[in-house]
Amino acid sequence: MNHHSEIASSTIQDEVLTGLSGAQKSLPSKYFYDERGSQLFEQITRLEEYYPTRTEIKIMRANMPDIISTIGSNVALVELGSGSSYKTRLLLDHLPSIAAYVPIEISQKFLADVVKQLNLEYPDLTVNPVCTDYTRPFELPEINTPFSRTVMFYPGSTIGNFCPDRARRFLGILSKTLNPGGGMLIGVDLKKEIDVLEAAYNDEKGVTAAFNKNILRHINRELDANFDLENYRHKAFYNEQKGRIEMHLVAEKEHEVSVAGETFILDEGESIHTENSYKYTLKEFRELVQPWFSVEQVWTDPNNYFSVQYLVQH
Ligand code: TRP
Repeated sequence: MNHHSEIASSTIQDEVLTGLSGAQKSLPSKYFYDERGSQLFEQITRLEEYYPTRTEIKIMRANMPDIISTIGSNVALVELGSGSSYKTRLLLDHLPSIAAYVPIEISQKFLADVVKQLNLEYPDLTVNPVCTDYTRPFELPEINTPFSRTVMFYPGSTIGNFCPDRARRFLGILSKTLNPGGGMLIGVDLKKEIDVLEAAYNDEKGVTAAFNKNILRHINRELDANFDLENYRHKAFYNEQKGRIEMHLVAEKEHEVSVAGETFILDEGESIHTENSYKYTLKEFRELVQPWFSVEQVWTDPNNYFSVQYLVQH
């Protein structure tokens, strides 16, 4: 499965060349997720050091009755992303009635697989998939049964992979689809001790390092590029001023790389910035969503590492 083979390669080429041409080189993080990248990420979620997935699931399990009654019955449940996860099944298993489940996913192949699987596991569930880039304005499909309201599900603190400005604009786009009264169940990672944050992105086994480097392998395959993975080392650290984990690939020696006919020089120690993961306080997140949403409920774990929040559009 190749998530991006459907996207015109000229788009990839433009994005990659632009990223490598800046003073701080960068690569678009969406190119992490080819088949191997998705598998590596799956492994990350099971790492001892990577607390977010485990903690989010624990929060959901511990508060399931409350979450279910907050969401309410007979909703159209819209998931931003594939919907292949254990967290999706937690909701599908516990919500007493769902008018329709609408997974939104950019990869047609990935979406088709999920729909097929859900039809087998939940034969009575109406699944109305939408194949699109959910960061752009989109419309919901026709839902044939009457439903109480639309509720979006956006787990995994994926909102933290946008910078706050883009996150706010993105929420504005979603609010056009959702309409007043619509809800959003969202996972948000919280600010905490730096050691805990940094360990989560620097695991002992090197899975996150392999995941980070896989972006180069993916770009080598998608474009005419010759990144040598051996030339790079994984670096992830917490940028306290910006409130984010930054992931970089650092050149271990000066070298050249050629991408789609263009040559780039990397100095020894120069980095390519590949990803950000913003962390919020509850107050910061409330202020971020404030133009569109009110925070109606917040569930956290005993350590306050992670939060699951229910937002209502006003
Ligand atoms: N949203 C998750 C996070 O920021 C997923 C993620 C994106 C991630 N890029 C990552 C996890 C790189 C580990 C490494 O944690």
